[in-house]
Amino acid sequence: MSNQNVRQTEATPVVDLFGIEAPKKVTAEKFADDQNLHIPKRDEHYVFRKEFVREVLAYIQKPHNDAMLAFGHTGTGKSSGFNQLLARLNYPTEEVTCMEDMRFTDLLGQFVLKAKSPGEVPQMTWVDGPLTRAARYGHALIINEWDLMEPGELAGLNDLLDGRPLMIAQNGGEVIDPHPDFRLFATGNSAGSGDEMGHYQAVKTQNLAAMDRYRVIEVDYPEPEVEMNILARVAPKLNPELRDGMVKVANEIRTLFKGENPEAQIGITMSTRVLRRWAMLTLDFKGAKNASGYALDIALLRRADKEEREAVSRICKDVFGDLWS
Ligand SMILES: Nc1ncnc2c1ncn2[C@@H]1O[C@H](COP(=O)(O)OP(=O)(O)OP(=O)(O)O)[C@@H](O)[C@H]1O
Ligand SMILES: [Mg+2]
Repeated sequence: MSNQNVRQTEATPVVDLFGIEAPKKVTAEKFADDQNLHIPKRDEHYVFRKEFVREVLAYIQKPHNDAMLAFGHTGTGKSSGFNQLLARLNYPTEEVTCMEDMRFTDLLGQFVLKAKSPGEVPQMTWVDGPLTRAARYGHALIINEWDLMEPGELAGLNDLLDGRPLMIAQNGGEVIDPHPDFRLFATGNSAGSGDEMGHYQAVKTQNLAAMDRYRVIEVDYPEPEVEMNILARVAPKLNPELRDGMVKVANEIRTLFKGENPEAQIGITMSTRVLRRWAMLTLDFKGAKNASGYALDIALLRRADKEEREAVSRICKDVFGDLWS
């Protein structure tokens, strides 16, 4: 049976944990043990969004046998939203990224040839996969790119989400009653409906019965104020006017990417990931001619086609004016 030890927690104001606006009396339970090796690494520049924090905290507090799915475009802050929030709560976490050929059994674990101690004859030994570890020890599990998995494989999670124990037939039928701190998060570019816009080719349409077990949050690119705040943290030495322009350019590119402008559509986008990279590279190459243009090339445009490069270049000239030389 599983280890059902109850962990010590400390009620901590969410304003202190996440830097979001909230009265001091609004608290979240943080695990007292901050030394667990499974706690995600903190990104000190991370900027939290209130809505997201509220919904994730509500799920952690009362999961009601649900799982939680964050879906949205690439680089909007789905995986990092979960792992950074969990990091602030000292929540031991497993994180796995799906590939097309990933099987449910890969999440459960496998037998490997292992010697118990040096010099002994190696024997086939069961090693827990991320799902089993999370259920056994009460960790959070984040399954990234969840919609790349075949629907039939993903449905393997259904029993667990219905509150039934995890049964590992391969390991002699071991039965694990999930630890009370086990939580299941998933991220993907779709809400289970497949690739509707043609941007995410390998995404699979998911089974309705499996989808029924998830609470869903749509994550869009952060508001301009949030991204200004992110850039101020990661590139404080950059001219604020330039930072402001970068956020504007990012949002114009996204409008074209999302197909919100019927005149033009492009197949590349500027994720928050790329925006951060652009700002930091501009500082790294500050001695170069048109440092921000050169940095944008490295950060994004080298993988764009000619038309996309021209469209982005027009946006930059519009937004930056004289600053774009
Ligand atoms: N709120 C934020 N504050 C600071 N940095 C952020 C924020 N959101 C995203 N980022 C940056 O963008 C990167 C990408 O975010 P993340 O990995 O969460 O994207 P994603 O939505 O999971 O994308 P994908 O669909 O490509 O997996 C992060 O590693 C981080 O550097
Ligand atoms: Mg991700």
